[in-house]
Amino acid sequence: MIRSYFPKCVALFAFFVLSVGALDTFIGAVYEHAVVLPNSTETPVSKEEALLLMNKNIDVLEEAVKLAAKQGAHMIVTPEDGIYGWVFTRESIYPYLEDIPDPEVNWIPCRDPQRFGYTPVQVRLSCLAKDNSIYVVANIGDKKPCNASDPQCPPDGRYQYNTDVVFDSQGRLVARYHKQNLFMVENQFNAPKEPEIVTFNTTFGRFGIFTCFDILFHDPAVTLVKDFYVDTILFPTAWMNVLPHLSAIEFHSAWAMGMGVNFLASNTHYPSMRMTGSGIYAPNSARAFHYDMKTKEGKLLLSQLDSHPRHPVVVNWTSYASSVEALSTGNQEFKGIIFFDEYTFVELKGVMGNYTVCQKDLCCHLNYKMSEKRSDEVYALGAFDGLHTVEGRYYLQICTLVKCKTTDLNTCGDSVETASTRFEMFSLSGTFGTQYVFPEVLLSEIQLAPGEFQVSSDGRLFSLKPISGPVLTVTLFGRLYEKDRASNASSNLIEQALRIMLAVIISIVYSLRW
Ligand SMILES: *[C@@H]1O[C@H](CO)[C@@H](O)[C@H](O)[C@H]1NC(C)=O
Ligand SMILES: *[C@@H]1O[C@H](CO)[C@@H](O)[C@H](O)[C@H]1NC(C)=O
Ligand SMILES: *[C@@H]1O[C@H](CO)[C@@H](O)[C@H](O)[C@H]1NC(C)=O
Ligand SMILES: *[C@@H]1O[C@H](CO)[C@@H](O)[C@H](O)[C@H]1NC(C)=O
Ligand SMILES: *[C@@H]1O[C@H](CO)[C@@H](O)[C@H](O)[C@H]1NC(C)=O
Ligand SMILES: *[C@@H]1O[C@H](CO)[C@@H](O)[C@H](O)[C@H]1NC(C)=O
Repeated sequence: MIRSYFPKCVALFAFFVLSVGALDTFIGAVYEHAVVLPNSTETPVSKEEALLLMNKNIDVLEEAVKLAAKQGAHMIVTPEDGIYGWVFTRESIYPYLEDIPDPEVNWIPCRDPQRFGYTPVQVRLSCLAKDNSIYVVANIGDKKPCNASDPQCPPDGRYQYNTDVVFDSQGRLVARYHKQNLFMVENQFNAPKEPEIVTFNTTFGRFGIFTCFDILFHDPAVTLVKDFYVDTILFPTAWMNVLPHLSAIEFHSAWAMGMGVNFLASNTHYPSMRMTGSGIYAPNSARAFHYDMKTKEGKLLLSQLDSHPRHPVVVNWTSYASSVEALSTGNQEFKGIIFFDEYTFVELKGVMGNYTVCQKDLCCHLNYKMSEKRSDEVYALGAFDGLHTVEGRYYLQICTLVKCKTTDLNTCGDSVETASTRFEMFSLSGTFGTQYVFPEVLLSEIQLAPGEFQVSSDGRLFSLKPISGPVLTVTLFGRLYEKDRASNASSNLIEQALRIMLAVIISIVYSLRW
């Protein structure tokens, strides 16, 4: 009797959860947080001092969590390094770290605070989630002891990880992700031996998580979408904006569109290091975004998203471009540098036109019409096909329309934040050798243009209407992941020198305090 009753009960329960509990939409929130940095990061502080600083930051995050919950948010994402900052050595980060267990242990720290030793940060985050009935995503540090039985164990006898944690609306730890692709100056942390694929299911879709620099690489980012079919990516970041192609709101919204997923990006707010730019992005357009180089304030964003946003539209990124003839003849080509990479450019001479520019295997086509051809502004169409080797090694194919910094063609590709030229229409395509292409449109003063452009199944990025603001760049940012390791560029002395130079510059910038 009892045996036959039990499965029915389970089936009924499952039916209830699937039919009644499932939500078609949910409200996501991200908080751009102006991190309170520690006074001293060269010498280790006491555990008490470390906790004092972390609690100062969590006090601010708590207000954001409460406000988001009050407005109906189901989940809130807070930034990478949002609880203690980013300038550390292995020793000076240590007092900030906690042992974070595998979520399989099924732990609600708020209910059972002593279960895994002294873990005050996890307990407080868990209580924030539980008391406000909201999923809370945060970035903290994990420590795991190791010894000589592991040949890769660091000399100080422990692994230290840059770690994202997720607590569900009951305060349960449901995800723990150790950052794979550490940025050049993150010497305080270790990368896990294998990329970790971290997903969890909710009544409002399946979630995947990764951190900051991870977004430029295949694992775990692309695998989460391609093989694990997540609906929404959670993305804590401490992102330093680099124009024209790697500004936070621009690149993160482009990744969401290119991969066909929702994307919740929470950046730290630190304008003097060009850290700003958070957003809530759906595959077809940005739903909310924030970019603020002027104030020192944090910012909460909320937006409704579809729980299952994937559209089975498959883009062939080379189809259109390989069907058209080269559209311009006799235009003078020139070389220009974008973020250390050498592009081949042509200048856009008319108020409208068709242009083609090629580099190696990539040919880029542009058809455009400006509102007027201003004499004080120059635009160029550029192509790049090659391995970028400066702050990381990654193989790119990029087609880009850029506003040049001045009317001097030597400035095409330089960082520029304002423009005056409006575009009635554009259509950009390229003969890409990859299915991973991220479509970027960035307007003057670092603004997005949600709903004003689209990608066609034959691989054209085109405007749907006259663009609402002057254009800084329209770009197809392609990644050839499989070629990253196939080239031997590390033997190139100039590239090695550039790498070292940039590492030095970035360490200096990191170690200065404002
Ligand atoms: C940093 O130093 C200032 C003044 O010396 C002090 O007021 C502040 O509380 C300190 N902050 C932290 C996080 O220790
Ligand atoms: C070394 O570490 C492993 C786990 O990482 C542990 O099982 C083992 O007991 C440790 N050995 C010693 C001698 O501490
Ligand atoms: C989420 O649910 C799917 C089935 O819908 C299942 O295949 C997957 O393993 C689940 N993932 C997790 C992390 O529980
Ligand atoms: C994409 O289009 C090109 C050119 O039309 C064609 O050769 C290629 O087979 C297509 N690729 C896929 C994956 O359908
Ligand atoms: C550019 O090419 C398109 C398609 O081939 C054509 O319809 C259009 O008239 C051309 N525009 C200009 C300004 O030449
Ligand atoms: C890469 O280096 C290996 C040996 O170090 C060499 O055999 C190979 O030809 C190189 N490949 C290229 C593309 O230069």
